[in-house]
Amino acid sequence: MKKIFLNLLKQPITNSYLPNLKSKTLKKEFFYNLSMAFDTNNYLVSIKKPINPKNQYTDKYAHRASQSKTMNIAFRKIANKLRKRFKPKLTIEIGSNDGVFLKNFSKKEIIAVEPCKNLAKITNRQGYKTFDKFWNLNLSKKITYKKGKVDLIYSANTISHIPNLDEVFKAVSFCLNDHGVFVFEDPYIGSVIENNSYDQFYDEHVHLFSLIAISNVVKKNNLRIIDVEILETHGGSIRFYVTKIGSKFNTSKKVNNLFKSEIRKKLNNFTTYRLFSNRVKKSKKKLLSLLKKLKKDKKKVISYGATYKSATIFNYCNIGPDLISFVTDSTKNKQGKYTPGMHIPIKPPCDMVKEKVDFAFLGAWNFSKEIKHKEKKFLKSGGKFITHVPTVRSF
Ligand code: TMP
Repeated sequence: MKKIFLNLLKQPITNSYLPNLKSKTLKKEFFYNLSMAFDTNNYLVSIKKPINPKNQYTDKYAHRASQSKTMNIAFRKIANKLRKRFKPKLTIEIGSNDGVFLKNFSKKEIIAVEPCKNLAKITNRQGYKTFDKFWNLNLSKKITYKKGKVDLIYSANTISHIPNLDEVFKAVSFCLNDHGVFVFEDPYIGSVIENNSYDQFYDEHVHLFSLIAISNVVKKNNLRIIDVEILETHGGSIRFYVTKIGSKFNTSKKVNNLFKSEIRKKLNNFTTYRLFSNRVKKSKKKLLSLLKKLKKDKKKVISYGATYKSATIFNYCNIGPDLISFVTDSTKNKQGKYTPGMHIPIKPPCDMVKEKVDFAFLGAWNFSKEIKHKEKKFLKSGGKFITHVPTVRSF
């Protein structure tokens, strides 16, 4: 049974940045109710009613994974690590975005899958064979008939976006060699609970994974988890290594250790999520009162990074241009547009000292190390950042 524990109210599609605020554009803006549910059968946390992926992953998809230096380094590291550990001859990447992982492989060694046609065009142009399709059993069969079975399937921040997980694993099972490995990483529900990072809940994050939940889902599909890692990326992610039941691999001790730790943290218990939901409500109150006080004190407040995560916060807390003057983002195709739902203008990164910014809300809090390093001048001149993780504060 799916039990709702958190209602994040009316939300837009996070990737739909508005080109202008004309009434025709505003009329077309799509909203849905974002409610998070806990499945008491397999312990998976998911959006109660996810929206149709065809409305999300279109040829207008704005996010470019290669925008962040942190992510470029992270993808290079994992590519090298996987190559060393599994020595794959042929690899598939599911959800290749603008090729940030692909570029660590030669064009013969890797096949890409990316449903956003604008992104698939980029990597096809670079010479990486990219299927501009959704990952499912049909596509897996098509790839296997053309190229044969593969040794490695890698996916970052994509599997949690797919409503039908059973189909994902069936498709993986079909095209994986007997000793092939499926490695995927997505935001970790354990980190969300720990950090109060409720902004990890948005339309694209259909599920938030735990080891307990995924072991239930893979078991159902005759697969097993051989290794697991907790990562710092995206404010806390989990990386799974999955193989066929009869593969040659031993199971790492880390799997059992994390399993025990999740049981200790009660990630398989509805009460954990209900208590978390109470903390989210408190966080909203605190953030709003801080921003209202800053407004009263005539401080200039902006937001740093037009992230999907911040769309959840702004819409849930009802934070608009009256409280945040503008949002800066280094992604060219977000600039000059407006944030979904709350319609805050998005500008290119600016000299925050010259612009007399007093406070910058960290929309991209998961990159705070990189940002603090970049904005030393702002901090030195007395500028402050605001964050809501793990509690609302400025620093
Ligand atoms: P993400 O958290 O969904 O990866 O999005 C991060 C967004 O933040 C992305 O649009 C790029 C933007 N960003 C900046 O504008 N400046 C920065 O220094 C960093 C690290 C990210």
